[in-house]
Amino acid sequence: MTKHITKITDLDKEEILKILSDAHQLNEQYICTGWNTEYFKNKTLAMIFEKPSLRTRVAFEVAANHLGGHAIYLTSTDILASGGNMQGRESIPDIAKNLENFTDVIMARVFSNETIETLAKNSKVPVINSLCDLHHPTQTLADLYTISHLYNGFPENLKVAYVGDGCNTVNSLFLACDILGINIEIATPVGYEMPEKIIKSAKNGNFKIENDPKLAVKNADIIYTDTWISMGLEKEFEKRLHDFQGYQVNKELLSHAKSSVHVMHCLPAHRGEEITDDVIDGKNSVVFAQAQARLPIAKALLKFLMS
Ligand code: CP
Ligand code: NVA
Repeated sequence: MTKHITKITDLDKEEILKILSDAHQLNEQYICTGWNTEYFKNKTLAMIFEKPSLRTRVAFEVAANHLGGHAIYLTSTDILASGGNMQGRESIPDIAKNLENFTDVIMARVFSNETIETLAKNSKVPVINSLCDLHHPTQTLADLYTISHLYNGFPENLKVAYVGDGCNTVNSLFLACDILGINIEIATPVGYEMPEKIIKSAKNGNFKIENDPKLAVKNADIIYTDTWISMGLEKEFEKRLHDFQGYQVNKELLSHAKSSVHVMHCLPAHRGEEITDDVIDGKNSVVFAQAQARLPIAKALLKFLMS
């Protein structure tokens, strides 16, 4: 059966740890030698983007190149209907049934999780979800890579705190913490909690969900945040700006965590909204190392799907 990665739970603990270890090796190999073993030689990655991207698009395109293959970036001027939505020019199953003949992996960043699931259902080649309304698994793998390098693995008493919107990024992080047994505490404003179906799918109970950011970050080793206004929600800008007051990751909030706390953000950051300049650029921030991790993870994922 074709292995798709439409959500982080498509991978088990062993597979996640293997991808993290391969990513580390591929990173070391590239730094030491300037090249990588060609695990994607003569292979092609189709990258469909209904929404913009800097890190995901560039990391996967460079990863395909370094591994001896090629990536094609498909956006609204190519296969999508006007407005950037996949549905419109032709059906999603038809897109999958065409791309599977030309390419070896399909990656897609879409508005709706249903689009990813439909692509996967109709594709004989692996489909990677590079962000939808519910999940952002490739980001989570880079987050885990970053955490495992900071703490030499995932120590039993490690505590991750997430402060902000109950969005795709934290949904995937939450599910990964559940798989790996990492403690996570999540504070969102009332009305912006993670979807019930995500919370209910956790198997281990090593999490706490609340509305008070100061409680969530108490004794935290990591504070993670993301934008308050995810792509596609721009119309809610004013309301969200109002509703998220008190959820900013700033110096005051950090004073409630361990002094050694590491601050993470998947980026793009909206400086002055969910995070302040002094925190994102300060000594506790690992945000840019986290972004750098997208490349080795992209390489390890392509290797994983080709093996
Ligand atoms: N974090 C992340 O996915 O970045 P992009 O939106 O730039 O790809
Ligand atoms: N939650 C954000 C993540 C961006 C990488 C969004 O969906 O826009």
